[in-house]
Amino acid sequence: MTTENIVWHSTSVTKEDRSALKKQKPCVLWFTGFSGSGKSTIANAVEKKLNMMAHHTYLLDGDNVRHGLNKGLTFSDEDRIENIRRIGELSKLFIDAGIIVLTAFISPFRSERQMVRDLVEDGEFIEVFMNTPLSTCEDRDPKGLYKMARKGEIKNFTGIDSGYEPPETPEITLDSSTMSIEECADAVVAYLQDKGVLPA
Ligand code: ADX
Repeated sequence: MTTENIVWHSTSVTKEDRSALKKQKPCVLWFTGFSGSGKSTIANAVEKKLNMMAHHTYLLDGDNVRHGLNKGLTFSDEDRIENIRRIGELSKLFIDAGIIVLTAFISPFRSERQMVRDLVEDGEFIEVFMNTPLSTCEDRDPKGLYKMARKGEIKNFTGIDSGYEPPETPEITLDSSTMSIEECADAVVAYLQDKGVLPA
């Protein structure tokens, strides 16, 4: 399948029009980190705060999206790359709709996170690195998956027998082993206010 004979069709209502109606600057808050590092928990807490501030948001969560849109994708490197490519494209559409998107995917590879950053406009990709130590994530083991991975019952588990490339220059770094959920969420909201994404 190529896009050879498909021409981009411009719409009359633009991203700016949609964003103006919502009184916000759309962006994607891209949470990355190990399973159990707090991505979904903090993204949820941030979304709740933004919602209470009357902002229009949408949260895309790895575990949920893999039940629908990305059903059938495995945890091979190739499928993880496709997982992130689709979420990158989806985030771009949500941004075009004027929404503040929050994503919670391990997204283990630097090149794919960079690919998503390059898909959207400058300042629209905000990388939130959940720098919670692997040992803490493994101790938490909320779904019992680390235990299974250690026993060899799950293959290609991130941090055990599949790699994770930490971001080199994330916009925001959080560690849920030393910061509370509230502190983490407040740090993200403060960043958005500081950068003018949200009114201060
Ligand atoms: S990603 O690597 O492709 O970005 P994604 O965030 O969608 O991963 O899914 C990760 C979630 O799937 C984890 O939180 C965990 O619950 C579950 N999971 C199941 N198998 C694996 C695995 N082999 N490696 C990592 N996570 C897994």
